[in-house]
Amino acid sequence: MTASLSGRVALVTGASRGIGLAVATRLAGAGARVCVTARKPEPLAEAVSLLGGPSVAIGVAGRADDPAHQAEAVAAAVEAFGPVDILVNNTGINPVFGPLIDMDLGAARKIFEVNLLAALGWVQAVYAGGPRPGVVVNVSSVGGRVPPPGISFYGVTKAALEHLTRCLAVELAPHVRVNAVAPAVVKTKFATLLYEGREEEVASTYPLARLGIPDDVAAAVAFLASDEAAWITGQTLVIDGGVTLTGRGA
Ligand SMILES: NC(=O)c1ccc[n+]([C@@H]2O[C@H](COP(=O)([O-])OP(=O)(O)OC[C@H]3O[C@@H](n4cnc5c(N)ncnc54)[C@H](OP(=O)(O)O)[C@@H]3O)[C@@H](O)[C@H]2O)c1
Repeated sequence: MTASLSGRVALVTGASRGIGLAVATRLAGAGARVCVTARKPEPLAEAVSLLGGPSVAIGVAGRADDPAHQAEAVAAAVEAFGPVDILVNNTGINPVFGPLIDMDLGAARKIFEVNLLAALGWVQAVYAGGPRPGVVVNVSSVGGRVPPPGISFYGVTKAALEHLTRCLAVELAPHVRVNAVAPAVVKTKFATLLYEGREEEVASTYPLARLGIPDDVAAAVAFLASDEAAWITGQTLVIDGGVTLTGRGA
């Protein structure tokens, strides 16, 4: 059971489906009111409805790496529910596959903007303007820890996100706690190519003998966002069914 988040206001990016929606569902279930974002308005509206409608959730559509969207979403959350207490930087992209040596640098720049700079932009949009209590949880990946073949630059940005987590944790203490989670393969649209048609084979490499589901990650995010984690900051919690213990990544 998630500790109470009653009275808290959360903003979860990339939350119309997958891990982000599971996180928003957990936070709302614990009593928080939630602002969710994603690019496409219709699935986002469906997510808001699933979360319980406008008394519990609002959706603001836009690109996570667009500063104007960041400002608009934060302002909408403040207007609807009050200042944001919990920021979950969940959006992450990986639109290309292949070796680093052939990587298109334009694509690399885009991945860097969405996976790293946008996370910092959201933190600035929520917490600039003076010290006040709060929590940030960044969604990293085991690909930031064990080199992930074919998606290495994605891994580079996630490694940077984990270091950003540590740097922000020091800079924003003692008011704002900043942590991260690093999942292995979780069954979402994003990860389809990593397991579809061979789930049993992939799962057999995991000590816990199954792939992740979005709620495995959401439970950990909700814990880190809660007062139960009041003395934890700058950490990355690996959520991987044990797979990195075997020396393998996702
Ligand atoms: N699934 C895994 O195996 C896995 C493992 C490790 C880490 N992760 C991380 O977990 C996070 C969530 O992934 P997921 O698996 O839940 O993905 P997902 O199921 O594909 O969901 C992605 C969500 O983000 C939104 N989104 C995508 N690009 C966006 C952008 N540029 N701006 C705003 N919203 C955007 C999508 O909606 P729209 O398309 O409408 O924008 C959707 O709501 C990512 O950071 C990913 O790196 C996932």
